[in-house]
Amino acid sequence: MERIAIGFLGCGNIGCGVYKLLETYGPQIEKNEGVAFEIKKILVRSLGKKRSWEIPEQLLTDDADEVLNNPEISIVMEFMGGDQPAASYMIRALESGKTVVTANKMALASHWNEIVTVAREHGAGLYYEASVCGAIPIIRAMNDSLQANRISSVMGIINGTTNYILSRMSSEGAAYEDVLRDAQRLGLAEPDPTADVEGYDAAYKLSILSTLAFHRHVPVESVYREGIAGVTALDVACGREFGLTLKLLGVAKEEDGRIQARVHPTFVPSSHPLAGVGDAFNAVYVHGHACGEMMFYGRGAGDMPTASALVSDLIKAAAQKRHGLPAVADEPCVMAEDWNCVHFVRMQAKDEPGVLAMLASKFAKYGVSIASMVQKGDADERGFVQLVFLTHQASEHAVRSALAEIDEKIGSVGSIIRVEGV
Ligand code: HSE
Repeated sequence: MERIAIGFLGCGNIGCGVYKLLETYGPQIEKNEGVAFEIKKILVRSLGKKRSWEIPEQLLTDDADEVLNNPEISIVMEFMGGDQPAASYMIRALESGKTVVTANKMALASHWNEIVTVAREHGAGLYYEASVCGAIPIIRAMNDSLQANRISSVMGIINGTTNYILSRMSSEGAAYEDVLRDAQRLGLAEPDPTADVEGYDAAYKLSILSTLAFHRHVPVESVYREGIAGVTALDVACGREFGLTLKLLGVAKEEDGRIQARVHPTFVPSSHPLAGVGDAFNAVYVHGHACGEMMFYGRGAGDMPTASALVSDLIKAAAQKRHGLPAVADEPCVMAEDWNCVHFVRMQAKDEPGVLAMLASKFAKYGVSIASMVQKGDADERGFVQLVFLTHQASEHAVRSALAEIDEKIGSVGSIIRVEGV
């Protein structure tokens, strides 16, 4: 039986989940895979803290060197979260030839080039399945199972918190603030929800996914990002009338050698597989030229789903004679400055003759074709009504240019939401 000594960096919920999985399922892994893992040291911030799984005290240390400089340890598992010191610890481990298994999308996406280069220079393994969508094996799929494909698009529900909020807004007609408060009370959203609701968490994940999909490094700073804080129950309801369901999507596409990577609220047809992904589940919908369309679905967060990905990476790392690294070319990616999609535009506009003709003429001036339009309800005290337009495929710049020309005394934009999957 091969025995491998490992060290942990961090022991919060995820670390405890990994410890629990190795303790409870380790004997079966030994039988199945012929390898035993021995946890030698665990770096923690606070030695005396109460943990969700009982960990022997003698394993704990608050000195990173006891993990990073321990010559016995050949694999370091990192789940400290955050950028620093996690990124420098991973780099130090790789520099000393240790394999790194990480769940840390922020550190990995923010320091991609540095981390991958150090791993390559030192022949060290780098495994990060848990960094994107928890238990869903999307990294393995991108790196291994879909290698024979030119990937043209990746669309994903890659943040569970926002999917929970939007799913409840959709099913209950509830307001964003009410569902967010409820999610915080239930422990589903963080007390400071910024990383999730403003799309930062999804942007890190999309940077990693699009880098692997298109074989070019897509820096997280190049990912266009809009969160869900501005989404209204009215938009959700209007979308439903057009047969659309609202999701926070990460969308990555390669068209004519240019890459789009964007995170924003997005309508998808209610018949689309992504529309049926409810609660806090994640899903990634991929199109490859040979495989066609496929969807990966599952739990994107939580201690045991994340531990599932981490321990699977650990087993894979242990079995490798030579570690593979992501097939990413050195040339920088060229990002698209504009993109085409269907746009949902909700406006408040004066309810009087000629207004619709004027709005249509602005769209026409920029080559934006209207697919359908509805007028909602009665005019308010100022004589304004809600108008909702659905365009045909149109450039983002064209739609915004047309709307920018509308005199505010006649009409103003309530929301612009992209539509994908049509
Ligand atoms: N906070 C994330 C989510 C999980 O809500 O999906 C960790 O990336």
